[in-house]
This record gives sequence, structure tokens and C-alpha cells, in this order.
Amino acid sequence: MTGLFPDTRLRRTRASGWSRALHRETVLTPADLIWPLFVTEGSGVEEPIASLPGVSRWSVDGIAARAKEAVQLGIPCIALFPNTQPDRRSDDGAEALNPDNLMCRAIKAIRDACGSDVGILTDVALDPYTAHGQDGLLDDAGYVVNDPTVEVLVGQALNQTVAGADIIAPSDMMDGRIGSIRAALEGEGHVNVQIMAYAAKYASAFYGPFRDAVGSGGLLKGDKKSYQMDPANGEEALREVALDISEGADSVMVKPGLPYLDIVRRVKERFEVPTFAYQVSGEYAMIEAAAAAGAGDRDALVLETLMSFKRAGCTGVLTYHSEHAAKLLNG
Ligand code: PBG
Repeated sequence: MTGLFPDTRLRRTRASGWSRALHRETVLTPADLIWPLFVTEGSGVEEPIASLPGVSRWSVDGIAARAKEAVQLGIPCIALFPNTQPDRRSDDGAEALNPDNLMCRAIKAIRDACGSDVGILTDVALDPYTAHGQDGLLDDAGYVVNDPTVEVLVGQALNQTVAGADIIAPSDMMDGRIGSIRAALEGEGHVNVQIMAYAAKYASAFYGPFRDAVGSGGLLKGDKKSYQMDPANGEEALREVALDISEGADSVMVKPGLPYLDIVRRVKERFEVPTFAYQVSGEYAMIEAAAAAGAGDRDALVLETLMSFKRAGCTGVLTYHSEHAAKLLNG
């Protein structure tokens, strides 16, 4: 309900800082952030990623240090992605099931360093482990086969859980994987391990720098359109979310982020479940490129885009800007 000018002047409440603070509808804090981190082999290693300026791969010791930093900054959760050595990648992605793989070692190092002060989210999908860069197993025609892939994903999720993961986040977009993983977790007594489903994940042009970071970009032939969603579709996203909730997801994710805030809003309004968005690598790179080109103030761009996720209805945001944003928010 809005009255008429001049009785109503919407600029009245905007006229001073205290009043803008009082009327602010949305709050962004470090507790809204999930910080994605890339792990690599070695010790004392930091490898900058050219297409993600300001983001590095860290060896396991460095990952533990970043996790400690997250705790100090008030960031509640980190997300891990491994850059698997080339000789450990295979057509069947078997390294995903190795209890001593890079991911599991990173999980354990974080647990040793931080106890339960930080949540550890782990990505479930085979692309960091396959020699072909696809998220699942291929048939002779190069099609990613659903049900055999789900079997491997269940093993991968259990492997991460035993190592100490708190949130299992399947990003593979196979049908039925949430239900299978949930049944396996219940069956093995891991009743409090969460599942955050990459429920509405689109076949996006914004993932390029991530694929460089995990080393799958150069291996990937073709695209992921037979399992990731068509960017033209919104209703289908609601069906994906409905299925994942019914199969036992604790929270859902929309990915990429900013170009899909309409999907976030529809999911939140329809299902009223914890809803996250992933501001993906290409989005991060665009903001960094804009700031480097003098097209905008970096700090302001970062905080405005993250606030937009919250305003759209997000419970939290996965963003490579987590460290920077948390420092800004902490003053
Ligand atoms: C793996 C995965 C991808 C991302 C997260 N998990 C890439 C892909 O599906 O090709 C993208 C994240 C980003 O771009 O920051 N399945």
C-alpha cells in the first residue's frame, strides 16, 4: 500500500545513513558465505589460477590454513574441489573411491586443524577424476550413463563421509542420485550427514575457469548438455528441486548464480526450503575483469552482487569472493 505524493515521499527514509540502516530489508554477513577451495598435491604449494585471478590451488597444509582463516573470519563452511594428478585420472574415475585420495586427505587435515568449528562441503561428481572430464561413466557412444554412474557416486559420497565431510553436495545431475546417496548414508548410520543437492544446475558457459582449476577443462570433449539443464528452462528446475527434496536433500542449490536469480526466487517461494546459489567461476572472473578494467569498484561490486543473492531469497552463497567479502563485512 503506497499513498500519493507528496504525502508519500519514498526518499524520506533514504535521507540519512541511520535511516537507511533502520529500513534495510536484507542483511549480508560472513555467516551467509560458503568458500570454495581448490586442493592440489604437495606441501607448501600455492598455485595461482590464471583464469581466476586472486584464487589459488593449495596443497593440503595450505587448505587447513585457509579453513582456520575461515573460522577466524566467521565463514561457517568451506567447499573442496581437488585437482587430481593426471596419472590418477581414468575412464572410470576410480580415484574418487580411494580413501586416501587428495580430497579425503584435505578433509582430515581440516578436521585436525579446526575440529567441528567449520563445515566441510564436498562435491560429488566424477569430473575431477575422469580422463575424459565428464561427470559420469561413458558408454561406447560417449553418452553419460545414469544408473551405473549413480552407483559410483554413492561410493564417492560414502568415501567422503568416512573421511569426515559434513555436507555431501552432488553436482553431477544424474537422476535418482540423491535418493541413492541418502539411503546409503542412512544404511551406514551417517544420519546427520547433510545433502545439499545441486538441484538446478545449468549447462552454463560460466564454468570455464573452474574446469581450469580442477584440470578437467583440457580433457573435456563436447559438452554436458545431456545431464545439466537447458538455460531456457524454469519449470524443469522446480521439478528437479521437488525430486531432490523428496529423495532426502536437506538443502538445494541453484547454479550459476546471478543469471538465475529468478530460479532462486521461484524455488524459495514454492518450496520454502534452505536454498543456496553458487556464484560460479565465470561470474567471479567477470567481476574481477570489470574491476581491473576500471569499469566498477571491486569492493562495491562484490558486496552488491552478494546482497542480491540474499534479497532474491538465498539462505547462503557459494562464492570465490568469500574471504574478501568477509573481510569487508567485518570492517
Ligand atoms: C563439477 C562442478 C562444476 C562446478 C562445480 N562442480 C563444473 C562443471 O559442472 O563442469 C562449477 C563451479 C564453478 O564454475 O565455479 N561437476
